[in-house]
Amino acid sequence: MFNQLDTLAADPILGLMAAYQQDTHPQKLDLGIGVYKNEEGLTPVLESVSEGQNRHIALENTKSYLNPAGYPGFNEAMQTLIFGEAHPALMSHRVATVQTPGGCGALRVAAELIKRAMADVTIWVSDPTWANHIPLLGDAGLSIKTYPYYDPKNKGVRFEDMLEVLAQLGTDDIVLLHGCCHNPCGADLSKEQWQTLAGLALERGFVPFIDMAYQGFGDGLEDDAYGLRLLSEQLPEVIVATSCSKNFGLYRERTGCISFVCESEKAMKATKSQLLSVARGIYSMPPAHGAAIVEAILNHSTLREQWIQEVDGMRKRMQGLRSAFSKGMAIRGHDNFSFIENEKGMFSFLGLTPQQVEALRVRYSIYMINSSRVNIAGISSVNIDYLCDSVSEVLE
Ligand code: LMR
Repeated sequence: MFNQLDTLAADPILGLMAAYQQDTHPQKLDLGIGVYKNEEGLTPVLESVSEGQNRHIALENTKSYLNPAGYPGFNEAMQTLIFGEAHPALMSHRVATVQTPGGCGALRVAAELIKRAMADVTIWVSDPTWANHIPLLGDAGLSIKTYPYYDPKNKGVRFEDMLEVLAQLGTDDIVLLHGCCHNPCGADLSKEQWQTLAGLALERGFVPFIDMAYQGFGDGLEDDAYGLRLLSEQLPEVIVATSCSKNFGLYRERTGCISFVCESEKAMKATKSQLLSVARGIYSMPPAHGAAIVEAILNHSTLREQWIQEVDGMRKRMQGLRSAFSKGMAIRGHDNFSFIENEKGMFSFLGLTPQQVEALRVRYSIYMINSSRVNIAGISSVNIDYLCDSVSEVLE
C-alpha cells in the first residue's frame, strides 16, 4: 500500500530551518521561520510565562482528561484579550470560543466547521498569504481562491484591486484576512480600510475570517485588534483564529483558540456544540499546559502587566531593527529600503529575486524564504552589518 507514495519536498519554512541548523558557517544567520529572537539570537521563555508556569505547576494536582473545549478559564480570558472588555458580541453571548492546538489547529477546526455548515463555500485568501494557509484550509476540502493584496512594486496594499474582487462575492464566500502584521508581507490595512471592508462585507454578505497570530507585535495589543473588533461589532458572523505562539512565546506548547461570532445566542450554542464535535473527531481535546499558563497570566493582574510589558518590548525591538536595517542599507547606497520601517510585525519581503536569495544562502549562509520574506526578529546589532553588507553585495 505505502510503496505507492511519493516522497515530498520539505516544507518551505520548516525545511529551511533544518538546513540552517546543519550549516556550520560562523556567521550564519536565520531569517527564515517566524520565531522571536533577542539580541543574543535566543528565544528564551518569557519571564511572565515562567512565573505563570510555576504557579500552574504548584496548583496542578492531576493530569486527568479535560474536555474538547480545553482548559477551564482559558477561553474566557482569551475572549477578553481578543475582543476587548465588554465587546457587544460578548455581551450578547454570540461568541463561541474553543481552545485549539495552536493557531494551525484553530484554522483547521474552523475549516472543518465551515464545511459542515456549507460544503461548497469558497475561501478567499490574500495574494500572497502564509504558505501553510493553503493545506490547513484546502486539505479540509474547501475550495480556495485568491484576492489581490500586496503590490511588490509600490510596497503597499492593493486596496482598490482587493475591493474590486471582494465586491463580487456573496453569502457563500469567506474572506481570510490577517488581523495584523501580515505574514508574509508586513503591509497592514489602515483603520479606514477596515471600515470600508466592514461596509462591503455587510453589503455583500461574505463572512470575514481573521487570522490573528501576532496580536501585540504591530501597534500594540489593543490597536492590533481594531479590525477584528470592528467587524465583530458590525457584522452578524465573523470567524477569528488566534495563536499564542508568538505573543506568549509558547510555540511548542501549541496553544490557540478559534472563535465564531454568530448571529444569535442560539446559533452560538449550536456552533459551539459543532466545534466540540469537530475537535473530538480530530484530536479529542487540546494539550492543556500552554493554555494553563496563558490563563494564569491573563487572570492575574501583576503577571498580566508584566506580560504586556514583555510584548511591548518585543514589538519595540522589532521596530528598532526595521529602522536600523533600512538605515544600514541607505548608508550603503540603497535608499529604497525605507518601506521596511513602515511595515509591521515579524515579516517583510526584501524584494530580492530567488537568485539573490540563493546567493545569500550559498555565499553568506543567510537564510530567508525564497520569496525574500525575512523574519525581522532574526536581525541583531551583532549581525546587522554582515546582513546589510551581504544584501548590498548581491544587489550589485
Ligand atoms: C512562519 O510563518 O514562519 C511561522 O508562522 C511558523 C510556521 O509554522 O510557518
